[in-house]
Amino acid sequence: MLVDIIAGARPNFMKIAPVIEAIQKEQRRGTNIRYRLVHTGQHYDRNMSDSFFEQLGIPKPSINLEAGSGSQAEQTAAIMTRYEKVLLAARPDLIIVVGDVTSTMACAITAKKMGNVKVAHIEAGIRSNDMSMPEEINRIVTDSITDYFFTTTHTANENLRATGVPDERIFFVGNTMIDTLLKQAPLFHQPAFWNKLKLQAQQYLVLTLHRPNNVDNVADLKAILVAIIKASRGLPIIFPMHPRTAKTFEALGIRSPNLHVCEPLSYLQFNYLVQHSKAVITDSGGIQEETTVLHVPCITLRNNTERPETCSMGTNELIGTDPEAILPVMEKLFAGAWKKGNIPYMWDGKAADRIVSVLKNMV
Ligand code: UD1
Repeated sequence: MLVDIIAGARPNFMKIAPVIEAIQKEQRRGTNIRYRLVHTGQHYDRNMSDSFFEQLGIPKPSINLEAGSGSQAEQTAAIMTRYEKVLLAARPDLIIVVGDVTSTMACAITAKKMGNVKVAHIEAGIRSNDMSMPEEINRIVTDSITDYFFTTTHTANENLRATGVPDERIFFVGNTMIDTLLKQAPLFHQPAFWNKLKLQAQQYLVLTLHRPNNVDNVADLKAILVAIIKASRGLPIIFPMHPRTAKTFEALGIRSPNLHVCEPLSYLQFNYLVQHSKAVITDSGGIQEETTVLHVPCITLRNNTERPETCSMGTNELIGTDPEAILPVMEKLFAGAWKKGNIPYMWDGKAADRIVSVLKNMV
């Protein structure tokens, strides 16, 4: 069986790493699963892509579509036309797509339209019910043409059942992003600026913002940052900045002695920072899950989440995008009253092995 594994953007890389490792393990046992790793090139900066391959031991992609940046439609079109050529030259039996980025949806559609290529979706079934997010559209479109649904939570299973997906196509396997987190945790290490900034465990905050609704408008981003700085009681705020945010940030003219902006960090350095922080303030999807597993308080600047377990069980609190909501939640943090949280069922580091056991039965 030939499988194409698709990865395109930063949050994909930690999700595919353990799947490739589990396939390689199976190959050594003599199972006939071959794979091609297809990088769409949606993210291409060294610190958004290559550094993840190096630190997570992901093999060099077999194919790079080099689709690059553009509008949603341009990016989707570039990925589809380039991946179609790959499929016409050699067609796999199955493609595996992960998460909810543009590459996920674009490759799923292209493969499905070829006929005779099955689609497996890792992290299927999660929903924010917010159609203003491109990721929600990517999730719904991808799941509407998926053959094998690999899910991370009970809620995802329920969401799929509610759209008529039969149980025999849903495989509740756990979370491959957490496989990577647990495996790599012993290797987390301090970023170079740790000593320079005299950082101390639990005495700084980590901030990440990259959602279009938070960062594309100068006034909105400024209001959020001013509120965070005001509420932070002078603690250093480490802000590894996504390239999208950097574009708006330059126009803000915000300076504060405790706001430390840096380039996007590597996986091992970023998670070291998170693990030792007092709290993370974010609008990311995956970081809500990682903080839950690391038992670090997470304040999410979004109105909804496709990962509700991180709030109901974990350490996450959704506060919306109104800057007024920041001060009260930070007061709660400083009062030491944050929930400790539990880890969702099956986020145990073995999701990729379970996925490959399912694939083995298809060979
Ligand atoms: C994408 C995902 C989002 C994910 C995020 C993580 C979609 C719809 N969104 O958003 O779900 O949380 O990745 O990072 O797929 N850029 C660079 N260098 C790069 C990559 C991007 O400079 O290596 C800049 C480009 O100007 C680009 C912009 O960032 O236009 C946005 O990149 P894009 O891939 O369109 O979406 P993200 O905002 O990164």
